[in-house]
Amino acid sequence: MSVNSDKNKISVSAEELQKQREFTALVSDIVKHRFEQAPKAFVHTYGCQGNVADGERLKGMLEQMGYVMTETLEDADLVLYNTCAIREHAEDRVFGNVGALKNIKAAKKDMKILLCGCMMQQERVAKKIRTSYPFVDIVFGTHVIHRLPEFLYRSLSAGKKVYELPDVDGVIVEDMPLHRDSDFKAWIPIMYGCNNFCTYCIVPYVRGRERSRAPEVIIAEAKELVANGYKEITLLGQNVNSYGKYPDYGCNFSQLLRELNAIEGDFIIRFMTSHPKDCTHELLETMAQCEKVAKHLHLPFQSGSNRVLDAMNRRYTREKYLGLLEYAYSLMPSLSVTSDVIVGFPGETYDEFRETVTLVEQANFTSMFTFIFSPREGTKAASMPDPVSREEKGKWFKELLDAQEKVAAERTASMVGKTYRVLCESVSKGGLIEGRTEGNIIIEFPADVSVIGTFRNVRVTESLTWILRGELCD
Ligand code: SAH
Ligand code: SF4
Ligand code: F3S
Repeated sequence: MSVNSDKNKISVSAEELQKQREFTALVSDIVKHRFEQAPKAFVHTYGCQGNVADGERLKGMLEQMGYVMTETLEDADLVLYNTCAIREHAEDRVFGNVGALKNIKAAKKDMKILLCGCMMQQERVAKKIRTSYPFVDIVFGTHVIHRLPEFLYRSLSAGKKVYELPDVDGVIVEDMPLHRDSDFKAWIPIMYGCNNFCTYCIVPYVRGRERSRAPEVIIAEAKELVANGYKEITLLGQNVNSYGKYPDYGCNFSQLLRELNAIEGDFIIRFMTSHPKDCTHELLETMAQCEKVAKHLHLPFQSGSNRVLDAMNRRYTREKYLGLLEYAYSLMPSLSVTSDVIVGFPGETYDEFRETVTLVEQANFTSMFTFIFSPREGTKAASMPDPVSREEKGKWFKELLDAQEKVAAERTASMVGKTYRVLCESVSKGGLIEGRTEGNIIIEFPADVSVIGTFRNVRVTESLTWILRGELCD
């Protein structure tokens, strides 16, 4: 696990990047001659924000090669699915969507179909694609996304199938082209991979070992975003609290936050995900002291039972978790905490599940992502005895949601009448403006679309359990 202590070993070389720029020019040339108008690319990303950030790089590369983005599958000359492997359900959706491309491609022979992302990094999946989905042109893994120009060149010039799925510890690539989806909210990945091997989780197998980007690169990226008018920067990593360990930059996550907080401008900083085992008092104090850091902490607890936490290899206890929250709320009374939970981990008993419910009743979360355990091939938990039926787990799941709904309803009800600074983001289905409070709670209110991308003060007039309604008051 020490491979990533050497900066030079994990950085993709300038020569390699230059080679990809040359492939970019070659693809551009082919595309210009082959299509009357700029060809269209349909890119869809599944999974976490880290994958979304990869998707923005994939789109950036495609644009440099002469493609324009489309939201309509049928119009596309190139379809790229950037996949997620976290649960079976995520994989089923991808297989279904890839299957549906067969007919579209039959009617449009020149269409290129590309698959990448975490799912492809599993041997079982790559094999299935080769044998059952022969109309897919290019399959590539999570460690080689920067080589998209090369893969596309091979496919466009010689019509060859490309399967590039190296299983390596992982690399860091800087200076990739980037198509940001928003012009006021931005993702900055600060680290990649994971070393934690929670027994249920596929991420360490498909994303490689933990590695951090250099602090100066992150700070420069943030400064540029702020100079370009971005209002929200979200720092991404599977375990941001262990930022800066591999390689050792002499800058931990708290120090990085302070450096970013010192950048002048009107913007907020978010980060995810925090792991309770690495969440220090120093970090909570830093959050409390840095005015630009949103008072929102996404701190997945996964289970309220110490026996189950141990079987999950989470390396903290219920008591440690609740202690962290107590300290965090004492420093930041307005703090909003969100979390992830798994119901029905192999061998979990009903009594152990009840400990998860009581933790939820105590923790005062604003919201929670709740998942039923999904066995992932190759992980430890996938081979553990799992006697509780899916139906039974479904009942527990419902019981947990009911408990959290009560907590959330009380929380949002207590916000009515108060005014919050909100980043206005989009238009809701009902035609209202939708924004988020610092605590990451969605609030809807009537206003002109021109407010999108700005901070506004909004007074809460109504609570709808998970979201709020309000009115502009500035
Ligand atoms: N790095 C983050 C989690 C990333 S995955 C962390 O450690 O908190 C996002 C969430 O998916 C996890 O928090 C977990 O709740 C859920 N998850 C991961 N693997 C799962 C599995 N095999 N079955 C069900 N849920 C899972
Ligand atoms: Fe998965 Fe655990 Fe790593 Fe999170 S910390 S990505 S749950 S192995
Ligand atoms: Fe999914 Fe890969 Fe993210 S498995 S959750 S896309 S790291």
